[in-house]
Amino acid sequence: MTTRDAPPGPPVPANGSLTGRTAVVTGAGSGIGRACAHTLSAAGADVLLVDRDGGAVRALAAAGTGRAHVVDLTDLDAAAEVAVHADIIVNNAGVQTVAPVQDFPPERFSLILRLMVEAPFRIVRGALPHMYAQGWGRIVNVSSVHGLRASPYKSAYVTAKHGLEGFSKVVAVEGAPHGVTSNCVNPGYVRTPLVERQIAEQADTHGIGPEEVEERVLLARSPIKRLIEPREVAAMVAYLCGPDASFINGASLTIDGAWNAS
Ligand SMILES: NC(=O)c1ccc[n+]([C@@H]2O[C@H](COP(=O)([O-])OP(=O)(O)OC[C@H]3O[C@@H](n4cnc5c(N)ncnc54)[C@H](O)[C@@H]3O)[C@@H](O)[C@H]2O)c1
Repeated sequence: MTTRDAPPGPPVPANGSLTGRTAVVTGAGSGIGRACAHTLSAAGADVLLVDRDGGAVRALAAAGTGRAHVVDLTDLDAAAEVAVHADIIVNNAGVQTVAPVQDFPPERFSLILRLMVEAPFRIVRGALPHMYAQGWGRIVNVSSVHGLRASPYKSAYVTAKHGLEGFSKVVAVEGAPHGVTSNCVNPGYVRTPLVERQIAEQADTHGIGPEEVEERVLLARSPIKRLIEPREVAAMVAYLCGPDASFINGASLTIDGAWNAS
């Protein structure tokens, strides 16, 4: 096996450790969210599949991975309602726009902050009364290496992820006496449609092939030279929701092949 190969194996054992728990996964229709939905469902959770892409979440629900809930989370009043009965929240829905600050469309900047900071705030705010009442809750925020580090041309995304990091820590501190933990997971580049779109755009911009974009642009700062698989992120998310993670709180757990360490 080279550093470019993902380790083999199934998503996660269906061990029933989350049986009886209701989990809300946002952006469940694709990529990391879909992998989280599969993994939490396999661990026994009843998963609410939240996404604006109705076709994607209905297909997952039809295949037995949970219940579909179609909503655009930039509607913050709608976001506030999605997790009022949830035991577990995975704040994952996100988008990317790449442009230098002087050209960055202001309305796009606002939308990214609304979706990736304000919606998680409204979702968690709506869920905490139920979690506090039962003395148990798990919140996992899908942040990024870009919650800890900057890259050029990603001002809204980097700002939003840094904001999500701060929010996650405040919830961790407030939630601790009530049995509620809040953590971030911080992946490097994961093989999802969001990244595949970036690879295609960069290939066009630089006039090079997609493999060269992967190696020379995306993975330039990653000592492990491969993209992360969504199931590898989902396994960490499921661990944070499971019985052995109750003391992990307010953390930001990198899954980045030592990008941050280097
Ligand atoms: N792919 C990566 O390399 C990577 C790395 C670090 C962090 N992340 C983060 O992981 C999360 C998921 O990314 P992904 O790569 O799986 O992306 P993706 O594009 O594959 O999936 C994102 C999902 O979010 C949904 N979504 C987008 N806007 C929405 C809205 N307004 N309301 C409801 N749903 C909406 C989309 O329909 C889609 O199903 C994002 O927060 C992203 O920032 C991704």
